[in-house]
This record gives sequence, C-alpha cells and structure tokens, in this order.
Amino acid sequence: MEKVILTGDRPTGRLHVGHYAGAVKRRVEIQDSGEYQKIFIIIADAQALTDNADNHEKVRQNILEVALDNLACGLDPMKSTLFVQTQIPELTELAFYYMNLVTVSRLQRNPTVKAEIQLRNFEASIPVGFFTYPISQAADITAFKATMVPVGEDQLPMIEQTREIVRKFNAIYGETLAEPEAQLVENETCSRLPGIDGKAKMSKSLNNCIYLADSPEEIKSKVMSMYTDPDHLKVSDPGNIEGNTVFTYLDAFCKEEHFSRYLKEYSNLQEMKEHYKRGGLGDVKIKKFLNEILQEELEPIRRKRKEYEKDIFAIYEILKEGSIKAREEAADTLDKVRAAVKINYFDDLDLIIKQQAKYRNLS
Ligand code: TRP
Repeated sequence: MEKVILTGDRPTGRLHVGHYAGAVKRRVEIQDSGEYQKIFIIIADAQALTDNADNHEKVRQNILEVALDNLACGLDPMKSTLFVQTQIPELTELAFYYMNLVTVSRLQRNPTVKAEIQLRNFEASIPVGFFTYPISQAADITAFKATMVPVGEDQLPMIEQTREIVRKFNAIYGETLAEPEAQLVENETCSRLPGIDGKAKMSKSLNNCIYLADSPEEIKSKVMSMYTDPDHLKVSDPGNIEGNTVFTYLDAFCKEEHFSRYLKEYSNLQEMKEHYKRGGLGDVKIKKFLNEILQEELEPIRRKRKEYEKDIFAIYEILKEGSIKAREEAADTLDKVRAAVKINYFDDLDLIIKQQAKYRNLS
C-alpha cells in the first residue's frame, strides 16, 4: 500500500513554538526522510470557520501566515502538497455522507470537542458546523487516503473518530477507505508544550505564545518572563523542576551539544537539573541558556521566512497549484465513494438495465 501523510493546521493565527515542537518540525523530517510517497499539508480554513463564522477576515489573512510558517520551517512544495481546504469541495461532500455514520452522542463524547466547547463558552449554543468538525476532519484525512497522520496529542481523539468512521463505512459499503494511524512526536514534552505562563497550552487568546516569526528581542523578553518555580526566590534556594516552564522547554529543545556551546559548567541537562534542585542555580541563568537554544533553533526559520515574504505572489501560486493537485486526489476518492454508496446512478448501467427489465416484465 502507498504510504501517504496528511496533516495540517487551522489558519487562525501565526504558528508558534508549540506547533513547531509538536508537529511542524516532525512534518518536515518526515518529508525529508523520503519514506512517504505522498505528503499533503492542509490549511484547514473551512474548519477554522466553524467557530469563526463572523471572523472570516481573520481566517483569510492567516492562510498566508500559516503557509509562510510551514515553508519557513522547511516544507518544500516540490515534495509536499500544501493546499487550502475550501478549494476542495469534494471534502464537504464526503463529510456529508460520513455524517450518517456518526451519532450525536459519539460527537459529544469526543474529548477534544468537549474541551474546546468549554474553552469557547459554547455550552449553550454550539454551532452545528463546529460540533461536527471531527467528521469533516475525517473527510480531510480519508479523501487523501492517508495512512499516517502526524499530530499533536490533542488531535488523537480526531484520528480515533476517523478510524471508527472508516471501519463503519467499509463494513456497510465494502472495503473502500484506508484506515489511518496517528503518529505523535517521540519526545512527549514536545507534543504538549505549555505556554510561557506555564498554562496548559500555548494559545493566542492567553497571550502566552512564542511565535516562529517573533524577533530575537521578542523571543528573549518572552523567555526572560517565563513562569518558573514561584518558591525559588533566592539563587541559593532549592528549586522545583516539575511544572517549571523553563525546564519543560529545555526537555523539549536542549541537546547535549548546547552545553559545550553555551553553558560549559554542565555536561548534560540532568546535571543542571540536579544543581537547580539542590539550590545555587538562579532563574536568570537557566533562562539565558534557554534563550540561546531557542534563538539558535528559530533563527534559520525566521531567515527563510523573510526570503519567502519577498514574493507573496509566489506563495499564493504554491497554494493554488497545491490545491489543484490535492483536488485531483480527492476527486479520485470521491469517485470510489460514490460508487461504493451506489449513488453513481448515471454510470451504473447495470442498475438502468435492471430497472428497464422490471418494467418490461410488467408489460
Ligand atoms: N484540527 C487540526 C488543528 O486544530 C487541523 C486539521 C484539520 C487537521 N484537518 C486536519 C490535522 C487533518 C490533521 C489532519 O490543528
């Protein structure tokens, strides 16, 4: 079987370090590994509209930002197909058939939907489109016959729901769809990087993000303001590393080589953690170290972004070409789906002949 990747982002803002650590970095590694025959990266604007119906200008603006961020991280349009969800009407059609295979109570139990409804205070008035977006996401994944979906941890319930839909579809209509697998990044910390305030997740509305396009000064000032151990008042005090955002980020980004480059007195992260726990290692020092690491990681991304920003016409051209290519793939799946659901009436000569025979017998 062909190995196919589909993954992507909602265009509701620029991508931040959480997106990068949890998804985009891995996405580019997969692309460059050459292990997959096809790679599709969706800019999920239709999904973004499910809770931004009156904010369509924001969504419209951020399609470009998300495209730039992906390209800046090393996504190569020659190797990966970057496309815009709304430009593939087949996805909407596919979701419509899947809706018959999912119950309201199953959607209500989807943990990601549950959490997002709470986050948005939607309890009393959930837009139907938002409520059903896991079904639309199943269409995104299956339309491209994806076998693997690299995602952050919060997306696991979506993949599970997709797999259920695939099994149900295939059971009713015959083997038609590929069942995808989820793939998390190996480093667990990376798949759920907290915001700089130590809150669960980076989120634009919480104003706790480090964006990929942030300037070196912005990155530094955000790192220096990071949440650490509130009881670690004096340098000599013993400090806590659990729930200490700086150490969480170090778990995500620090490699041994960083010590020889920026902090020679330790040979690895474990040694540094021990010192912090014992007391005698100050927050300013650990923050400066993290800043060096993040600057090193983000500088090439920012540089590449600046290059791409010089020709915005070319970016829209990449998206247009990608969408044309993606549509061909989705249309092929839709042909198969229509045949399986037996709604391809006009191509179904067997049906027409039998219907004719029925009436011939009557006369
Ligand atoms: N739900 C994803 C997010 O919020 C975006 C997305 C839409 C997606 N369709 C997808 C991710 C298909 C993976 C596969 O970031």
